[in-house]
Amino acid sequence: MLKILVFLVVAVAADRPDRRQYDPGQQLSYYKNFTKCPIGTLTTTFGAPIEYVDATVTLNRPLIRNPYIMDELPHLVRERIPERVVHAKGAGGFGYFEVTNDITHICDAKLFSAVGKKTPIAIRFSLVTLEKAVQDTTRDIRGFAVKFYTEEGNLDLVALNIEAFVFRDPVMFAGFVRSLKRNPATNLRDFNMFWDFVTLRPETVLGIITLFSDLGIPASYRNMPGFPIHTYEVINKSNQKRFVRFHFTPDAGIKNLFTEQARNIAGQDPDYHSRDLYRAIGNGECPSWTLSVQVLTPEDVKNAGFDVFDVTRFLPHDKYPLIPVGKLVLNKNPINFFAEIEQLALCPSNLVPKILGGVDKMFESRIFSYRDAQFYRLGVNFNKISVNTPFQTEVFTYTRDGRAPVKDNGRDAPVYYPNSFNGPVPYRAKKRQEITQIYEGPSNNFDQVREVFDNQMSEEERTRLIENIVGTLRLVLRVLQERAVKMFKSIHSELGERIELALFGNRTTTCKN
Ligand code: HEM
Ligand SMILES: *[C@@H]1O[C@H](CO)[C@@H](O)[C@H](O)[C@H]1NC(C)=O
Ligand SMILES: *[C@@H]1O[C@H](CO)[C@@H](O)[C@H](O)[C@H]1NC(C)=O
Ligand SMILES: *[C@@H]1O[C@H](CO)[C@@H](O)[C@H](O)[C@H]1NC(C)=O
Repeated sequence: MLKILVFLVVAVAADRPDRRQYDPGQQLSYYKNFTKCPIGTLTTTFGAPIEYVDATVTLNRPLIRNPYIMDELPHLVRERIPERVVHAKGAGGFGYFEVTNDITHICDAKLFSAVGKKTPIAIRFSLVTLEKAVQDTTRDIRGFAVKFYTEEGNLDLVALNIEAFVFRDPVMFAGFVRSLKRNPATNLRDFNMFWDFVTLRPETVLGIITLFSDLGIPASYRNMPGFPIHTYEVINKSNQKRFVRFHFTPDAGIKNLFTEQARNIAGQDPDYHSRDLYRAIGNGECPSWTLSVQVLTPEDVKNAGFDVFDVTRFLPHDKYPLIPVGKLVLNKNPINFFAEIEQLALCPSNLVPKILGGVDKMFESRIFSYRDAQFYRLGVNFNKISVNTPFQTEVFTYTRDGRAPVKDNGRDAPVYYPNSFNGPVPYRAKKRQEITQIYEGPSNNFDQVREVFDNQMSEEERTRLIENIVGTLRLVLRVLQERAVKMFKSIHSELGERIELALFGNRTTTCKN
């Protein structure tokens, strides 16, 4: 009888007509239409029904005997968890990844094993720099993070919308992040900090010119590419190593906003990109991306003539063409944002067999840092939060207890390894592949700054780039402006001279800061 009832409940839930398909402004109306009448009697968190007077009046009554307010007030003041220290503002959704091309000769991970194979995914897009309340159309790098719920565990590709990162030594991460945040004294964004940092570390310039180019403000998340950047070491079906850079390319095309447009939109709708994504998914437009790879053999790595693992460089597309792998399709909005998107925990360390990950120091530091952030933000059992659960496979660990959620906490299975009592056992690889060890020299990416400025930008794009750079350089101390001009000139004379001209004119008018 109970079984039948459970079945019925599940069937009803699954039958909810397009429960996620609506325009964001219609959500409450939709909920009301769908539910017809109040969904139940209001209860306390411990399940007892709440009487009308308790929910409506406390005046002249003992407060502590009112179970409703005793739930509500303490809960309210505990509702916030730490926001992500970077990438705080985001939007996300759900869908699937479908293999369109056989790449088992490149990577033999199970999710790529057959053309047509579908794997459920979760996705979160984000801005990097400021707090959860930042305006969506702010000029910023964007996050593009995908969780694939594979049959061999979760694979996370935690990407950005820029093809090369801003620096290659993780020792710079905390400093760079703080230089982008608020000045500790004024609590204001202070471009002095940013330009100071950038001009002290010129390898950031390739990332910086991307940020200040048209690519710095996407038209929508649907029009935004994603680059996991690191060159990943992968294993193919003959158990040999290959190296790939993954790319997500929007099927709707890459589109961006100009500074002026973005500014106007920010004033009208600070949540412009989040709203657009929700609406597009809700209306059944199924935003999609093509996943492809640039591929290298170990030989190619040796013969490249540059460090293919340097995250401050992109791999030239003419030399390493994109090979299509599959499609990423979004068709479901979250039903509850906090539960499913705020609590989504994306870690570059979530890797599956045959995908060994990046071999560079940045990747190593990320393996550590995201887990650390999620322990702090969500607690030690964050992988037991529903949206993070690898639901396509069964989980057997020796970890127990700790902050909720513990779920069944491993029930009554043995809690130590090794044991003689049928606790879970590790599998034995036929031929274990160790991660490749590399030596990392200093960054050397100025040739790519020149390549982008000279060959990948139109004259209008170059003009806008310079306007955008100067737009923030104008706000900083003279000494930093001069240092920036010197740095840009030493990397690319025309770029530097044009910035100098725009900042200082013909040096007849000098404004002292
Ligand atoms: C030293 C290098 C880096 C460190 C230490 C680092 C650290 C972090 C941390 C601590 C978070 C917050 C995680 C959370 O609270 O859940 C984060 C978020 C993120 N990072 Fe990084 N990061 C680094 C470089 C990169 C690179 C190279 C990329 C892309 C290729 C990247 C993409 C992202 C994205 C997309 C998110 C947001 C994930 C989400 O939507 O929840 N980061 N990073
Ligand atoms: C809910 O029902 C009302 C009345 O039938 C209708 O006007 C409204 O459009 C419906 N809302 C949604 C989101 O379907
Ligand atoms: C696997 O990769 C190696 C190079 O790393 C290549 O020589 C071999 O042909 C690949 N296997 C298949 C089945 O393509
Ligand atoms: C600089 O001087 C040249 C020649 O006198 C003039 O054409 C140009 O408009 C000036 N540029 C600025 C930014 O003042």
